Amino acid sequence: MINGDSGKNVSASAAPYSRVQYIEMLILGIESSCDETAAAVIEDGRRIRSNIIASQIAAHAPYGGIVPEIASREHLDRIDSVVNSALAEGGVDLSEIDGIAVTRGPGLVGSLLVGLSYAKSLAYVTGKNIVGVNHIEGHVYSVVFENPPIQYPALALIVSGGHTSLFLIPEEEKYAILGRTRDDAAGEAFDKVAKLVGLGYPGGPIIDKLAVSGHSGAVNLVFSLPRMDSHNLDFSFSGLKTAVLRFVRENSILPVPGEGEPSQAVADIAASFQDKVIRSLLQRVTEAVRRHRPRTIILAGGVACNSALRRAMSEADFGAPVYYPSPILTTDNAAMIAAAGYPKLARGENHGLEVQATASLKLGNILMEGYEVPAKARYKL
Ligand code: KG4
Ligand code: ZN
Repeated sequence: MINGDSGKNVSASAAPYSRVQYIEMLILGIESSCDETAAAVIEDGRRIRSNIIASQIAAHAPYGGIVPEIASREHLDRIDSVVNSALAEGGVDLSEIDGIAVTRGPGLVGSLLVGLSYAKSLAYVTGKNIVGVNHIEGHVYSVVFENPPIQYPALALIVSGGHTSLFLIPEEEKYAILGRTRDDAAGEAFDKVAKLVGLGYPGGPIIDKLAVSGHSGAVNLVFSLPRMDSHNLDFSFSGLKTAVLRFVRENSILPVPGEGEPSQAVADIAASFQDKVIRSLLQRVTEAVRRHRPRTIILAGGVACNSALRRAMSEADFGAPVYYPSPILTTDNAAMIAAAGYPKLARGENHGLEVQATASLKLGNILMEGYEVPAKARYKL
């Protein structure tokens, strides 16, 4: 250990592949961008002291999707106890925290505001530094706790309910978008297809389980992709979702009733749909690996919980290790937000009380030649 500018201990060897100096720090992370109210205390950017997640799934399940108004109210009801539990379980008093990292976007603006306002009030009363974190960058950092250090250039596939993006990360905190979805996010497609055949919410984990008893070759899902006339490695899932809808109608497949058992036909649809999603993700990753030869591949975001996707990514011959988090760190959590805030706080950044919530915050902060967004393309970012 050597001493850094801040007077804190600095470990030069902790992150041999990072340009960021790693210093001893306790960070409180707060996440409320969607339907999980979460807080965590992490130590030195990569050790979890506590990771508290209050899921709202039960509140939204009757509607088959997230209701923004309900989400904001649930966050308001829970944020105080979630943060206090994170501090208590982390064995720290608020005064011992060195900095606060909070999600500032992208997400539902009402939901984001709850976590952000709460974090700002803590920063105000304690005088601690606060940084606003991009939720997608948080997902990238979700792999730091359980894997060897990320080596750069890294490639990150972030697949969640709101996003499907492929990033090249030439060095820490530099993100070039190689591809993103032009319509639905992968998780959104899982959730919509599940709803269509009468499976519960969220659909991803249910389809994942059900697909095991289905045959992916049994259902012929015919769909065309939008024209991909650029170098970008973009995704599209709405055609596949429509193909499932058409198949269900043409074959008079009945939705699963109430608590009933799914039919073999529904299991086959689950397996076939999932197989097509995985193939499409893998195809883009394989091409990105061919073009950019990354040294680490990161698979993160809620859909990265999918067991078949994890298997397919791990078994593919990418010539670089694939890192993904354990399930509790894969879906939304605040440990990943604290980890993403760590390099910023360690450098002494302070976004202050002016930090704003931005519903459509983007992550790409560098441009790679050839990957510009074509003027005519429509994207969901
Ligand atoms: O990252 P996340 O918790 O929230 C967002 O940032 O969107 O991701 C939630 C999404 C949901 O669409 C959910 O259906 C999907 O992740 N998901 C899965 C699985 N577990 C969660 N999708 C496929 N297979 C799973 N096992
Ligand atoms: Zn997320």
